[in-house]
Amino acid sequence: MVYVDTAAITHNVQHLRALAGTREFCAVVKADGYGHGAVAVAQAAQRGGATWLAVALVEEAVELRQAGVSGPILLLSEPPPGSEDLVVVHAIVPTVYSAGCIARLSAAATAIADPDRSPPCEVHLKVDTGMHRVGAQPAEILAMAASIVAQRSLSLGGVCTHLAMADVPDDTYTGGQLLILDQSVRALISAGIRPGIVHAANSAGALAHPSARLDMVRCGIAIYGQDPDAGLAAASYAVQLRPALEFISAVSHVKVVAAGERISYGLQHRFSEDSWVATIPVGYADGVPRRLSSVGGSVLIGGYRRPMVGRVTMDQLMVDCGPVGTDPPPVVAGQPVVLLGNQGSESVTAWEWANRLDTIAYEITCGISHRVPRVHREGRS
Ligand SMILES: Cc1ncc(COP(=O)(O)O)c(C=O)c1O
Repeated sequence: MVYVDTAAITHNVQHLRALAGTREFCAVVKADGYGHGAVAVAQAAQRGGATWLAVALVEEAVELRQAGVSGPILLLSEPPPGSEDLVVVHAIVPTVYSAGCIARLSAAATAIADPDRSPPCEVHLKVDTGMHRVGAQPAEILAMAASIVAQRSLSLGGVCTHLAMADVPDDTYTGGQLLILDQSVRALISAGIRPGIVHAANSAGALAHPSARLDMVRCGIAIYGQDPDAGLAAASYAVQLRPALEFISAVSHVKVVAAGERISYGLQHRFSEDSWVATIPVGYADGVPRRLSSVGGSVLIGGYRRPMVGRVTMDQLMVDCGPVGTDPPPVVAGQPVVLLGNQGSESVTAWEWANRLDTIAYEITCGISHRVPRVHREGRS
């Protein structure tokens, strides 16, 4: 079970908002709210003062609208051809950076003209200032902005970019990207085009680069209570985040494995003494990476860390609960198991898994599969 503390999301947005001052605050809820459940996160973020939401896919924006979520929703990339009608009908604000997409959106917005919305479709123009993922080249921005404002069906609501090195606070690349964005914005203003909301900062940008905050910050990972990088702690910027997600299971089986026996596929782990072993009914199909047991992964049972032993299998994993000789057994079937979260004075964080696996906390929470039910609650039990 994944328990998501929606009060923690609200708290995190409130505290990040304080950092962002009067700027717009965009809560990034793509990838099902980084695995936390997009609708519940969006609502909790709005309670904390988020004025915008952002998603990666048109389908993600439609899911929010169908759940009754109101307010501006930014689509972080261009909508794929064929999805423009959905964008207009659901009042999604797409990011654009190609003449083809601008033309398709304009045609859809003209055809679906809504008398209540004029112009019917707001877009944000993205400048590729150095991330080289998506975005128009700086030299193209003026012509593209002019082509947007020339359409009666479109309005230019913002100009934006994405930072490649924001999680390395003293790297000069961020300053260079912000300079290119600024030059693009100035070129529009000189040509009499209003750029609308100018935005660049993700969580790391919002925390570590005050000059990147501009008119709006787009925070993802930090609203979930995770630092943007192992070396970039929100606490060093006086922002106390609360992790919102706990990944909990329960012991399904307990037995003794004799000294000299080996365990799980490939028999990679040998017991040096008769040991209590607990089986937990979660595996790599649930989002516990198969490699975690071989890089020191552990769970919490009864307030103690219990190391994973043998390979994590698709649906189950095993943990060593210590040598036999203790009676009664140190764990019993049905006992709660914390995979991610706190128990007693111990805690296992997404960053702990990420550091062991040489990845980032984002990949850990996004990787908890849909097979694991999400339970949303205000606060913790
Ligand atoms: C364009 C864009 N903006 C903002 C974010 C939010 O980033 P973070 O989760 O690091 O705050 C992302 C996430 O990858 C993104 O792609």
